[in-house]
Amino acid sequence: MVELDRLNQLMLDYLDPEVKLVLDVGKYTIEAGGKRIRPILMMEVCRMLSEGCERVAPLAVGIEYIHMASLLHDDVVDGALTRRGRPSANLIFGNQAVVLGGDYFYAKALWLYAVYGNLKAVELVSRAVMHMSQSQILELNSIGKILSEEEYLRIIDGKTGALFSASMGVGALMGGSPLYEEFYSIGLKVGRAFQLIDDALDYSGSEDQLGKPVGNDLKEGKCTYPLISVMSHLDIDWVMDRFGKGDTEELRRKVVSLGGVENTRERAKLEIKEVINYLKSFENSETLIEILESVVKRDR
Ligand code: FPP
Ligand code: MG
Repeated sequence: MVELDRLNQLMLDYLDPEVKLVLDVGKYTIEAGGKRIRPILMMEVCRMLSEGCERVAPLAVGIEYIHMASLLHDDVVDGALTRRGRPSANLIFGNQAVVLGGDYFYAKALWLYAVYGNLKAVELVSRAVMHMSQSQILELNSIGKILSEEEYLRIIDGKTGALFSASMGVGALMGGSPLYEEFYSIGLKVGRAFQLIDDALDYSGSEDQLGKPVGNDLKEGKCTYPLISVMSHLDIDWVMDRFGKGDTEELRRKVVSLGGVENTRERAKLEIKEVINYLKSFENSETLIEILESVVKRDR
């Protein structure tokens, strides 16, 4: 897709650190690819609301830099070995270079927002990152525990929803709409749906398509929606004997056979349906609606 190529090129063009190692971490991460769903949503919201959305391009790059920074940091925190089908950057460049490189991308993103956006845009993205980082702490503290649906949603709204909020909120803001807080709020639902699908794919996806190992959440003791949705059919002691332990395959199969993956996909669809209903009142919302439908249908 031409638009994606252009975005990837802009991501490389705006990357101008003086230190080669930072450039190496950046290129390695950008060239690994990715869905670029956050910048695509930002640009499409802006386009739906106004003509001539060229000015949003640097901010779309910035939102993907923030996403990149968060994954670089996350892979250090998680001790990940693989990302997007390749050895993770921490494995190649080491934890220190990756944490500091991540800091560079985050700062570069804020610089782009200050130079090409406005104070409100800076406020929206900073708000999202404050939300994200706190949720990561909540998630760390929840390892090995069986969570309620409410506790789980609180975590994913922060770790994923917040950046989708900023994507859609900034898209509306740069499209000149006074409704940017509403778009910030619906973005949270889109991110929630996106993370629900991610969590379903961790039970049922293929490593080849996802570019990262599957079945990891159970092994790491991360309690996500597929498990939560079938807990009432399981014996808690049987679960705890397996959850977060070396061999979680039997537990994974049980959750799948009880319908945990379907329940999760259905929950994601509900969130997206609400967003689509909201968007239907806008003219030219067809493309955006198509993108949102693809979020819940995806298998990678
Ligand atoms: C991946 O989750 C991680 C996130 C979606 C958010 C990570 C956020 C931070 C580390 C804080 C923000 C920091 C900065 C500098 C912007 P996962 O571990 O469930 O998914 P995975 O399997 O793809 O790793
Ligand atoms: Mg991770």
